[in-house]
Amino acid sequence: MSKRIEVNNLDVYYDKFKAVEDVSMIIEPRSVTAFIGPSGCGKSTFLRTLNRMHEVIPKAWVDGEVLLDGNNLYGPGVDPVLVRSQVGMVFQRPNPFPTMSIRENVLAGITLKNKRISKSEADGIVEKSLRGANLWEEVKDRLDLPGSGLSGGQQQRLCIARAIAVQPDVLLMDEPCSALDPISTLAIEDLIDELKQDYTIVIVTHNMQQAGRVSDKTAFFNIAGTGKPGKLIEYDATKTIFENPSEQATEDYVSGRFG
Ligand SMILES: Nc1ncnc2c1ncn2[C@@H]1O[C@H](COP(=O)(O)OP(=O)(O)OP(=O)(O)O)[C@@H](O)[C@H]1O
Ligand SMILES: [Mg+2]
Repeated sequence: MSKRIEVNNLDVYYDKFKAVEDVSMIIEPRSVTAFIGPSGCGKSTFLRTLNRMHEVIPKAWVDGEVLLDGNNLYGPGVDPVLVRSQVGMVFQRPNPFPTMSIRENVLAGITLKNKRISKSEADGIVEKSLRGANLWEEVKDRLDLPGSGLSGGQQQRLCIARAIAVQPDVLLMDEPCSALDPISTLAIEDLIDELKQDYTIVIVTHNMQQAGRVSDKTAFFNIAGTGKPGKLIEYDATKTIFENPSEQATEDYVSGRFG
């Protein structure tokens, strides 16, 4: 568990439109990396290339390399479905499967992988994943009720439980708290802090305080104008990005002068 990500000269396209240009970066295991930058600069697009979710969109493609512990995710013969089980994703809006129970939601990724597991093994995975997502105590007596009956913050933790149930190496989170209240947000941030013991975590956030609180390193992306590709402007220790960035654009963004 917990692998190193190395991105080399990655360009990301939607058909002919280049949305992200020439990103290279190394993301260390057992750390939290925040992606920040103005709307439309390509944070979500770039994030989705880290588990091959990008190419689910028709005519979307990439040029360049993404290595997971040295293995290129875009190498010949690599199965994108396998990649997505190694690199899990949590989305902006909690998206539990509405017709499934809490228990079925946690096991959804495992069932998709078509692994045959016993009832007791499944029970073990459900408890471990829900404990890992800090949700067990709140739901242990209603595992067979619909996941959609939980609060927003609980649903997001359920989605995190679903993501970690398959034992990924990396967890990608695209603005996981933007639909949550401050208390639920803090619960997710505490959880991220715990999960980084076991996973490589990448989080997109518009909340500068959140980036400051949860991340070890921060990547600032920017865009020169409409129709231009987003670029990685600066990538450094979070403290450096917020207190002593090298680039004027980073300084302007983190101090709230634009974006
Ligand atoms: N499915 C798509 N098809 C075509 N273009 C897209 C698609 N999704 C995003 N784009 C374009 O790619 C660029 C980057 O979008 P992206 O969603 O990655 O930005 P973002 O930094 O995540 O923005 P936000 O902070 O608003 O979430 C934008 O110009 C956007 O319009
Ligand atoms: Mg986005």
